[in-house]
Amino acid sequence: MEIVKVKNYEEMSERACDLIIEIVNKLDNPVLGLATGSTPEGMYQQMIDSYKRNEVSFTKTTTFNLDEYVGLVGNDPNSYRFYMNDKLFKHIDLLADRAYLPNGDTDDLQKECRDYETLMYKAEYIDVQVLGLGLNGHIGFNEPGTAFDSRTHIVDLDETTRKANARFFDSLDDVPKKAITMGIETIMESKKILLLVAGEKKAEAVYRLINGETSEEFPASILQKHENVTLIADEEALSKL
Ligand code: GLP
Repeated sequence: MEIVKVKNYEEMSERACDLIIEIVNKLDNPVLGLATGSTPEGMYQQMIDSYKRNEVSFTKTTTFNLDEYVGLVGNDPNSYRFYMNDKLFKHIDLLADRAYLPNGDTDDLQKECRDYETLMYKAEYIDVQVLGLGLNGHIGFNEPGTAFDSRTHIVDLDETTRKANARFFDSLDDVPKKAITMGIETIMESKKILLLVAGEKKAEAVYRLINGETSEEFPASILQKHENVTLIADEEALSKL
C-alpha cells in the first residue's frame, strides 16, 4: 500500500483529484468507482473546478457508486443518488446513462444486486475505486463480519454507522436500516483503489488498517492484500501510526 501523507483535507482532495484526472485523461473508456460521505466532497469540488478549466472531459467515463440506502427514492435529499447529482454529476459532462448507482427503491432487491454486478462486468470492472473509511472499518456499507468473498448485496446497517450518518437526517429514526452495497470481492476486483482519510477521529481506524491483522471483523483490512492501493491521508488521520 502506497501511503501519501498530506497536510490537511484540502491537500488530500487536490491530490485525489489529480490522480483521478490523470486516469480519466489516459484511458479511452475510464470506469470510476465512486463513494459518498463527507470525505470525497472536496475531491468532487476539485474535479468540477478542473472540468470548468477545460483540463478534463468525462464524456467517455462510466461511473459506479459503491452503495445506496434501501427505501429512499432517487430524489430524496438523503439518497446517495441525490448526493452524487448535487456534488458532482450535474456540474460536469458525464453522460447521465453512464452514471450508475444501485437502486435501493425497488421491490426486487436481489435482482438489483445481480443486475448491478452484470453492469460492472460488462464495463470490464473499475479502473479506480474511491473509498472512504468508516469508523468501524467499513468500506462501502460492508460492515464488520461481512464475508471477504461477498458480491453486491443487501446489508443491515450497524447502529454505529446509523448514528454516524444521522447527522445528515432529521433524526436517527429517519436513517434507513438497510443498504445495498458492492461486496468486498467486488471492490477488490478494482484495478486500483484510492482510499481517502482525513481527520483525527479516523486515526484509530487508520492504525488498525495498517497494523492490524486481516480480518472480516475490520473489513478495510482486506485492502492490505490488494496490489494497487494508494492511501491519501492527512496528518491527523496518520497521527497514531
Ligand atoms: C458511509 C458510506 C461510506 C463512507 C463512510 C465514511 O456510511 N457508506 O461509503 O466511506 O461512511 O463516511 P465519511 O466520509 O462521512 O466519514
